[in-house]
Amino acid sequence: MAEGTQHTDEIDPVLVIIPTYNERENLPPLVGRLHTVLPQVHVLVVDDGSPDGTGEVADKLANEDDRVHVLHRTEKAGLGAAYIAGFRWALERGYATVVEMDADGSHAPEDLPRLLDALSDADLVIGSRYVPGGALVNWPPHRQLLSRAANLYSRLALGVPVSDITAGFRAYRRRVLERLPLGGIASQGYCFQIDLTWRTADEGFRILEVPITFTEREVGQSKMSGSIIGEALVKVAQWGLKRRADQVRAWRERARA
Ligand code: GDD
Ligand code: MN
Repeated sequence: MAEGTQHTDEIDPVLVIIPTYNERENLPPLVGRLHTVLPQVHVLVVDDGSPDGTGEVADKLANEDDRVHVLHRTEKAGLGAAYIAGFRWALERGYATVVEMDADGSHAPEDLPRLLDALSDADLVIGSRYVPGGALVNWPPHRQLLSRAANLYSRLALGVPVSDITAGFRAYRRRVLERLPLGGIASQGYCFQIDLTWRTADEGFRILEVPITFTEREVGQSKMSGSIIGEALVKVAQWGLKRRADQVRAWRERARA
C-alpha cells in the first residue's frame, strides 16, 4: 500500500488548531502549557472576531513566537467553519498532523503526547471521555446528560463504533483531511465533530480512542446553544437515514448477486 511508506507515516510537523470566541484570558496560559509539553508544535488560533479582543491577544502571542499563527475571521460562523478554514491552512502549509483542541483548558495539553503516540496505529485519534480511564471534572449534570444522549443517539443512528463521537480533542493525519470533501461539510456547531467522525470511518481510516480527563472551564462561557443541539438532532437523523438506506441497498445487491 502506497500509504504505508515512511514518508506519509511521519507525524511531524504538527499543527494544533485552537478555535476561539471570547477566550482572551484562557488562550495565553493554554498556549504556554502546550509549548512546555511539546515545544516543537505549531499553533493556529482561528478567531471569529471575538468582541472581547481574543484576536488581539492571539496577535500578540504570534508576534512574540514564530510557532504561533492566527487566522482572523470576520464573524461568528461556528466551530465547523472555523476548523475547515484551519484545515485548509494546515494542508497548504504541509503539516503532517492536525490537532483540534478547545481554548478553555478543558483539553489538557499534557494529554496530547498520548494522542500523538497513538497516531502510529491510527489515522484519527480521539481524546475520549467515555473509554476506560477517561474522566469528567466539574462538568454540570445537565451537560453530562446531553453529551451521553448525543453519543447514544449518534451511535444508534449512524452505527459508528466510537464512544465519544462529539469529542473536540483529536489528532488527524493529513491524509484524512486530504481525502474528506472539506468544501461539502456544512456542519456549523459541535455536530461538526460527529460529521467528521462518520466520514473518516466511512473512508476506511483507522480510528482509535485514548482516555482523557475533560475539565470544565473556569473562565468564560460555553458557546453551547439550543440551535447547536437542534442542528445536531436534524443532521444526525438525515445522515443516519441515508446510511441505513445505503446499507439496505448494498444487502439487496449482494442478495441478488
Ligand atoms: N472560532 C470559533 N467560532 N470558535 C468557537 C465557536 C465559533 O463559532 N464556538 C465555539 N468556539 C470555540 C470556543 O471558544 C472553545 O475554544 C471551543 O470552540 C469549544 O467551545 P465551548 O463553548 O467551550 O464548548 P463546550 O465546552 O460547551 O463543549 C465541549 O463539548 C462539546 C461536546 O462534547 C467541547 O469539547 C466541544 O468541542 C464538544 O463538541
Ligand atoms: Mn468548553
